[in-house]
Formats: sequence, C-alpha cells, structure tokens
Amino acid sequence: MKALVLAGGKGTRLRPITHTSAKQLVPIANKPILFYGLEAIAQAGIKQVGIIIGETGPEIREAVGSGKKWGLRVVYIPQSSPLGLAHAVKIAQPFIGKDSFVMYLGDNLLRDGIKDLAREFNLKKPNAQILLSRVPNPQSFGVAELSGGKVKALEEKPKKPKSDLALVGVYMFDSTIFKAVNSIRPSQRGELEITDAIQYLIDSKKLVTPYIVKGWWKDTGKLEDLLEANRLVLDSMQSRIDGWVDKKTKIDGKVVIEKGARVINSTIRGPAIIGEHAHVENSYVGPFTAIYHHSKLISSEIEHSIVLEHSTILSVRRVEDSLIGQNASLIQSSIKPAAYRVMIGDSSKIEVP
Ligand code: DAU
Repeated sequence: MKALVLAGGKGTRLRPITHTSAKQLVPIANKPILFYGLEAIAQAGIKQVGIIIGETGPEIREAVGSGKKWGLRVVYIPQSSPLGLAHAVKIAQPFIGKDSFVMYLGDNLLRDGIKDLAREFNLKKPNAQILLSRVPNPQSFGVAELSGGKVKALEEKPKKPKSDLALVGVYMFDSTIFKAVNSIRPSQRGELEITDAIQYLIDSKKLVTPYIVKGWWKDTGKLEDLLEANRLVLDSMQSRIDGWVDKKTKIDGKVVIEKGARVINSTIRGPAIIGEHAHVENSYVGPFTAIYHHSKLISSEIEHSIVLEHSTILSVRRVEDSLIGQNASLIQSSIKPAAYRVMIGDSSKIEVP
C-alpha cells in the first residue's frame, strides 16, 4: 500500500498566514499539521509516499525532505494549479501504479491515526473505503448517505445535507479509482471532486465501504478549527521541561518548555507549549497556547492562541483566541499620539477592545 498526501492548493481561507506559508505547515502544538499525517502513515507501516505540491511546494519540500525522519520514501508530485482532489489522484497515477493507496488531505488531523482503518481496508478489500464523522455543520463538507451499512450517495458541500455524516479527508482506494477520476467532469466550483469520483464507483456497482471514526477529527481549514485542534493536541501532551525556567516563574498543569527556551518571572498555566529558543519574560501564558520557536513574549498576557516562529509580543495587555504569523510584531508603543499603527495583510481580521 502507498500513500498520497495532498499538500497543494491555496490556503485562501487562512490568509494572510498562508500568503507566506503553506497552510499544511501551520503548527498545532508546535508541530506542522502535515507531520501528524506523515506520522500516522508511517505508523500504519506504509513506506512509499507521494506528496502533491502546488505554489508552496518549495516550503513543503524543505520541511519534509526525503521523509527519512519518519522512515518514509517521499516523492513530490507537482500540480499545476488546485484543480481538485480527483485531479490530484489523476496526476498521481504514474506513482501509484497498480497498488492500493491511502489518500490523506494534508490539512486533516485524526486522533487515532490510520492504522486500524488500513487494516480494515486490507482485510475487506473494498474498491474504496471512506471515513465518516458526525458533525454539526455538514454543509461545509462532503456528506454521505448510508443505507443498510452501505454508502448510498455522496454530495459535496450540499445546501440541504441528507445526513450529518461528513467525509473525513482520508480515503482508501484500489486502482479502480483511476477509471473514475478519468470519467468525471469538473463540478460547479470548477474542480474535479473526489466525492463525484466515489459516486461514480457506487454507480458502477463497485464496493464502497464506510468507516465511522471513533476519536476526534479536525479539518484545519479555518482559524477556529486550528485553535480547536491546538486545544485537543495540547490536552493530550505530557509535561516536559527541557528549557531554562527561573525561580520566580510559576508553572501549573501540563506544560512543555523546549530546549533553548528561557522563561523568566512568568506564570505558565497549561496545557501550553513554549518552543525552542523562545523567550518569555514578565508574562502570563494561559491554557491552550502554543508559542513556536524563537518567538518572544515580554510583559504581556496570552491565552488560547498560536504564535508562529520568530514573532514578538511586547507589553500587550492580553491576547486571546488569536493566530499570530511568522516574524510578526505586536507591540504596545508609547509614541504619541496614542493610536493603532498597523501593517495588516489582505483579508486579515483584527478585533480591538
Ligand atoms: O477535510 C475534509 C473535506 O475535504 C471533505 O469533507 C470534502 O469532501 C473534500 O472535498 C475536502 O474539502 P475541502 O474544501 O476542505 O478541501 P480543500 O480545498 O481544503 O483541500 C484539502 C487539501 O488538499 C488541502 O490540504 C489542499 C489540498 N489540495 C486541494 C485541492 C483542491 C491539493 O493538494 N490540490 C487540489 O487541487
């Protein structure tokens, strides 16, 4: 079995963070989302991985490299533009050949990994196995209609969903999927949809089996989802202090301080993680916060937020529910007149008190 990981596309819903970075590389509890998927693939015993890359390909290549650190052999498959999930399958055919494969969307996180479902797929040998999870907002996803334990129909982001069973971004296929992706037409949004390709398999009387995931699943396409994924992962961490913490600092609950980090005269209330070479001084870091490597938090308070690498937060009263990009600065200034002085990227959202 091989794996096809989708890390192309444009992260429009996460702008401006993804103007400078691939959305699959945004860190959740200080680890890029994509790495959770690669770990899950390695744990399922899969070795050969093809990664679909688009505009942000150079960054993905730099972060993942040969895949050796997970024991994987990674090849990169450039996609000219994000023409759809089924288009990605189409261009991966030379890499997949006659093997069966798991397709893993690079912005999805699954608590329990894919080991059990890969086993189930290899045991039952259906033509396709889809993963489903009950959600409160099925209209934002592909939605499945089941009947007698079988998949009856699928619809991509329907206005009137027929069930609350969303398609999770992890699929397993045998090579019959190639005929399907070569037979369908682009959808109204101009993409070759994987849901249409799977519907094609159902209509051609192929065996498509459902697998309802038991643990949590997150599609990290939007800010609220990223913060929630961050919360869920931080909650399952073990405490570990590898950095330097002074005597005046108070640490409560599950906290990770990575090596090279310095924490001075501060309170860190977990679950929280402070990345390598980060500097926290005279500050409060509240629950569900992840501060990535080489960032600085000085004389400030932060809670329920993600701060990316090389950023600075200085003398800011309180930051909550926020995502702060790489190399960003959030600074309280004494320059008069007192005013907001900002350089805000396209499509940003800033709420001020
Ligand atoms: O997350 C689950 C959902 O993923 C499913 O419920 C939907 O049925 C499925 O269509 C998909 O919907 P999204 O709208 O969330 O897909 P998105 O465009 O965000 O793309 C998912 C990943 O695949 C993302 O990491 C970018 C990558 N991608 C996307 C496209 C369209 C590619 O690499 N190439 C592409 O052409």
